[in-house]
Amino acid sequence: MNEAPRGSRPYKSLSVPGMGADTESPMTKDTRIDPAPSTKLVTIERHILGQQALYPDASGELTNLLYDIALAGKLIAREVRRAGLNDILGRAGAMNSSGDEVKKLDVFADIAMYRSLDHTRRVAVMASEEHESIIPIPDRFTPGNYVVMYDPLDGSSNIDANIPTGTIFSIHRKVSPGSRGTDQDCLQPGHNQVAAGYILYSSSTIFVYSTGHGVNGFTLDPTLGEFLLTHPDIKMPSRGKIYSVNEQNTCWWEPGMRRYIDWLKEEDKPTYRPRQARYIGSLVGDFHRNLLYGGLFMYPGSKKDPRGKLRLLYEASPLAYIAEQAGGKASDGTTRILDLVPTKLHERCPLFIGSPEDVDEAVAFVNGRRS
Ligand code: AHG
Ligand code: MN
Ligand code: MN
Repeated sequence: MNEAPRGSRPYKSLSVPGMGADTESPMTKDTRIDPAPSTKLVTIERHILGQQALYPDASGELTNLLYDIALAGKLIAREVRRAGLNDILGRAGAMNSSGDEVKKLDVFADIAMYRSLDHTRRVAVMASEEHESIIPIPDRFTPGNYVVMYDPLDGSSNIDANIPTGTIFSIHRKVSPGSRGTDQDCLQPGHNQVAAGYILYSSSTIFVYSTGHGVNGFTLDPTLGEFLLTHPDIKMPSRGKIYSVNEQNTCWWEPGMRRYIDWLKEEDKPTYRPRQARYIGSLVGDFHRNLLYGGLFMYPGSKKDPRGKLRLLYEASPLAYIAEQAGGKASDGTTRILDLVPTKLHERCPLFIGSPEDVDEAVAFVNGRRS
């Protein structure tokens, strides 16, 4: 350990974004940086390549696919940042396949993802929240071995208010016979995912992904145009103080769900109650906060919508993969999200996702095992 020169006052420890968690070194007043032996600057490219090394037989196809998605994320982040300036806000005048209003940025994000992936020879088929059917790879391009499903712009109803949005992606291996992908490739249970993640467009842009070896987060340095490792090996606290749910739906909830939310608001220190309510209405944003701080996001089924609102393939399944890789859990109230076998592309499912003890607690209430 290098000591500060005599007579100089060490500055408060500084950490440099992207330079790893172990770079908090004292700086001397003449601003020389202590050359800490393990100082690392890790770009997303370097990190993804490092993950590939964990699979000796890997061809690099998945590695490059993740780069491609990171590129799409940069394009979307740039557009989201310029949204107000470019008069891009407003309605595109169409509805998506789930009947929601489509905003222009949804369309841009959808095209950015598609165009970053269609010609790469790495993808056999895609599916997007914004398309009714699977998106085939055009005949003029050679298909690859992977299946990519995405919600191009989650939380898009928040765009006009400058509230966080995100892109969620899920990657499977192709399983159908033949070179071009089919519905069968998209309708796989989430435990078959080989990678998943999201890009959150907020006060900064962060890319969070997993290939089954933990979860890492990379913040976009807009001046460099690089995603730099800022959140290595993210672990979700086993219990959190936060619950996130749209309570407008209380009147349609089943009694177990209502009782659980009432219980969360009661005062009882040993069980960390009352809990804090935090709900952005942008799943990626709500999930990301709870991933870092601990907590529970819920979009339960109700009398009005027995299977809730969120889509299994584009939202629940990839985030469940991230949650589990970070030590969290995700359930539809009965079944582990990653074990649900989808029967259609735009299938919805109730979602309880977050800190493992909180998910277990919620599920116990919903099933009437606790009251
Ligand atoms: P999307 O913008 O992709 O359609 O998703 C919106 C989702 C999700 O982001 C959010 O958690 C949820 O809708 C909010 O729904 P409510 O407005 O019903 O709470
Ligand atoms: Mn969404
Ligand atoms: Mn969306």
